[in-house]
Amino acid sequence: MRYFIGIDSSTTATKALLMDENGRVIGVAASSYEYETPHPLWSEQNPALWWTATAASIRQVVAETGIDAADVGGIGLTGQMHGLVLLDADDRVLRPAILWNDQRTGAECDEMRAIVGKQTLIDITGNDALTGFTAPKILWVKNNEPDIYAKIAHILLPKDYVRLKLTGTYATDKAGGAGTQLFDVQAREWSADLAQQLGIDTAWLPPTYEGTEVTGTLCAMAAAETGLPMGIPVVGGGGDQAANAVGTGAVVDGIVTLSLGTSGVVFASSDRPIIEPDGRLHAFCHAVPGKWHLMGVMLSAAGSLRWFRDTFAPDQSFEQLMVAAADIPAGSEGLIFLPYLTGERTPHPDPLARGAFIGLTVRHTLAHMVRAVLEGVAFGLRDSFELMKAAGLADMTQVRVSGGGTKSALWRQILADVLQAEMVTINTAEGAAYGAALLAAVGTGAFSSVEAACEQLITVTSTTAVGDNAADYDRIYALYRDLYPILQATFHKL
Ligand code: XUL
Repeated sequence: MRYFIGIDSSTTATKALLMDENGRVIGVAASSYEYETPHPLWSEQNPALWWTATAASIRQVVAETGIDAADVGGIGLTGQMHGLVLLDADDRVLRPAILWNDQRTGAECDEMRAIVGKQTLIDITGNDALTGFTAPKILWVKNNEPDIYAKIAHILLPKDYVRLKLTGTYATDKAGGAGTQLFDVQAREWSADLAQQLGIDTAWLPPTYEGTEVTGTLCAMAAAETGLPMGIPVVGGGGDQAANAVGTGAVVDGIVTLSLGTSGVVFASSDRPIIEPDGRLHAFCHAVPGKWHLMGVMLSAAGSLRWFRDTFAPDQSFEQLMVAAADIPAGSEGLIFLPYLTGERTPHPDPLARGAFIGLTVRHTLAHMVRAVLEGVAFGLRDSFELMKAAGLADMTQVRVSGGGTKSALWRQILADVLQAEMVTINTAEGAAYGAALLAAVGTGAFSSVEAACEQLITVTSTTAVGDNAADYDRIYALYRDLYPILQATFHKL
């Protein structure tokens, strides 16, 4: 039996997942760490944490499962996207990594639009400038830390720093590359033209690979630290969203995934590079060779419910709140919740957007407010759906759901009714780490393609059909859509 390891270096932990050649998950180990917010809006992490946690998690999963390390046939990498890792010519880390959720680069996003032109930026990269992406972070270092900028020899993403430690090679995958906003998404390669306009030396950027391509093999130092034998192939992998899509089977047109964690993500694979004309959806390369994807990101999805519970009903469980909300009619008797508690990305890329309850009366109870939160999050996700349909993704009838929020049957029903699409659950729950292991298995010949592996291994376990409330929700969604434009100026003044 051969085994494959998926490594997921997220913002809070690095996970090592061990899968056998039949796609069965044998074991998972994780090592946690923190991130720093040294100033308001900043979010940073020391890259050494990812490597220490990677080596510890690999050792742990191999020890706990009792497999022979010599049977590991390949490693796939995934992790937090967009983070900026800067190295000097001797591979020394020049400053803490600036993470995906760092918001310091508003001025640099304006600078990018001014230099390149917003429309050209969207045409080349598929996206408008966004504080979360990597390119404006590079400009921020140029503008604010010129001494560090002068020493840059290599720019890597977080998971590619782990790759450097594992293999000694500089490389990134096409999905991760697209998330830097220095990519020509159609060409699936760095845009030399864009880099030059922004004053970024292309020699700093690593070679790029498809998600299943081998980027290097385990080096002696990594073998010593992980306990694995030298020479194991390490494939390109993909950013956490693209790898999660592989792990949930969103690798062909028509299968959409919706993950409802702290944030909410709607993800759709595409055989051709589709770009939302105003850049309101993220348009990146997929981790599946030769494919692309569109993605809508809501910053506070299940995070909105957690905030509500922690603030207003700390002694109640989520299950209790759901039972109460199930008795409230659709539309929460005229109460609408806006889920912009931590600003928003899709469809309003606005760090200053705020949350709101609109329409409160003395009739409204805690249960109404819970239901309004569930509905408001669903309306916000429908915004991404509508943008995707308008951009040309016609077939969005099956949605594969994952993440803590979708464990609730009530929330799944509300989502089915609001999005007017069937919500299905699937047999795999390890998302991105599983996707990374699958990419390694495909890249080393255990399956003929990513699509074939997903078709064989991922099955539907439950279905929630569109219910009777769909027409009511259609009308209320129209009201929801009106609210952000009306309130935007007030949000900014607040
Ligand atoms: C995607 C994104 C997040 C981070 C979190 O655009 O920013 O998924 O990758 O890890």
